[in-house]
Amino acid sequence: MDKNVSALLNDQINKELYSAYLYLDMSNFYASKGLDGFANWYEIQAKEEQDHAMLIYQFLHNNSETVTLEAIAKPDKVFETLMDPLTAALEHEQYVTSLIHNIYAAAQAVNDYRTVQFLDWFVKEQGEEEKNSSDLITKMELFGGDAKGLYMLNSELGTRVYSAPSLVL
Ligand code: FEO
Repeated sequence: MDKNVSALLNDQINKELYSAYLYLDMSNFYASKGLDGFANWYEIQAKEEQDHAMLIYQFLHNNSETVTLEAIAKPDKVFETLMDPLTAALEHEQYVTSLIHNIYAAAQAVNDYRTVQFLDWFVKEQGEEEKNSSDLITKMELFGGDAKGLYMLNSELGTRVYSAPSLVL
């Protein structure tokens, strides 16, 4: 595999694990506010990010590439209002999308079609992640302003269940 593509994928493992840590911190914030449904939503989100990291880890190993695990940064976002994690999540997903697109372009530039095909799943996944984040902001704006609406929204988010990624390597 091209050294640059391999290095970018290796770095993306770290970025996905940081994402998991960031979402766990969002879950942590909502749990401390007594919003167990929101906490559940982000705890599952954190699990999904760990899955993303492991898919890339496995893909590199399947292609006989060396994986180097680096330190995971401390979650550094400060949350004050109940809306703060929601907007931070959307911004973060937009950033992750740009990272995935960057690796995709690097793989395309060297005709690495295997990596391009692998990343197709991530491109689609990022579209879903951005939509979910943006939908949640809209729901919070519409219903989160009063106690009853917030209670209902918290209940809805509490029903989310974890499912393994649809991509199997
Ligand atoms: Fe793995 Fe939410 O991007």
